[in-house]
Amino acid sequence: MSTTTFFDRLQEQIPRDLMLELGSAVLEVESELRTQVASQVALVSDVGELTLHAGGKRLRPALVYLSALATGLQVERERLIRLGACMEMIHMATLIHDDVIDDAATRRGAPTAFSRYGTTASILGGDVLLAKAMALLAADGDLAIIRSVSSAVVELAEGEVRELELRGQFDLTTDDHMHVLRMKTASFIECCCRVGAMASGADKEVTEALAAFGHHLGMAFQIVDDVLDFQGDSAKTGKPLATDFREGQATLPLLLLLPLLSADERAFTQHKFGNGSTEADLAQIVGWMQDRGSLGEAQALAVEHIRQAERSLCALPDSAAASVMNLVAQFVIARES
Ligand code: FPP
Ligand code: MG
Repeated sequence: MSTTTFFDRLQEQIPRDLMLELGSAVLEVESELRTQVASQVALVSDVGELTLHAGGKRLRPALVYLSALATGLQVERERLIRLGACMEMIHMATLIHDDVIDDAATRRGAPTAFSRYGTTASILGGDVLLAKAMALLAADGDLAIIRSVSSAVVELAEGEVRELELRGQFDLTTDDHMHVLRMKTASFIECCCRVGAMASGADKEVTEALAAFGHHLGMAFQIVDDVLDFQGDSAKTGKPLATDFREGQATLPLLLLLPLLSADERAFTQHKFGNGSTEADLAQIVGWMQDRGSLGEAQALAVEHIRQAERSLCALPDSAAASVMNLVAQFVIARES
């Protein structure tokens, strides 16, 4: 699967001048990423390159860049490229680790570092990427940005551990689950928008508006991810279906289904949860999610977050960059991969 970024997917709707600028920024981020994953230690390069070449939407660097442009302030392009690459490297490191945790053979339709190089090399390769991202932040030297990114990384790592604590719990509350989504996904996407705003020297009001956009976008992104886990097309998502359920990780479509099941249906679902379901079992459970509306309800919650993301942007001056951020928001709920 190649790198089809958000900008590629949206290009027909973006004004030509801005598209040219964004297109060249994407190329520069890719080039910085290639430089950064290269290592004197071959196995480190191998793990990094495999992950880089698997592609991705490059949402995080896009948000750093667009958030900076949306402030309407003068921005130092070089910094945005480096900071965008830094956020993508942190994201790559988390996915490399996440695939070890999930035992995932494929991501983005390509073999994971875990399946190609094993657990130890993946954990260490991810660590190197994380360390290099920290070095990029230090080279940029903005203490407020360093503080913001470090605390977002703490939050996402703690979010992953909290998710682990909840693994195997069939009927956790939706509040508990939403808290995990905020920690493991939304906080970091929020941080990408914050970094773009801070790098351009935006005031508090503008920075918080962009951060709120990122928070809601991140919540919607993760809810859609969880919906796609049950009803996506594996050929498009590049991931096997119902991984969360098979692994005993309760997500919103399941939690919203539980009150809609009869006692027998609930007992059946609980028995299969994290406990070796067949394709027929999963088809039955996903069928209930569709018929009783829990997948639709989860999707509606994602749409509500997108509405709030769009409302957050109202505090900003009108700009083509802000319009593109709205397009990105629309894309997040319509995406199939
Ligand atoms: C993907 O979510 C994973 C995350 C959002 C966070 C992963 C974080 C860690 C592994 C811990 C921190 C690691 C570092 C390097 C700081 P998902 O599993 O719901 O999505 P998926 O379906 O794409 O796997
Ligand atoms: Mg995962």
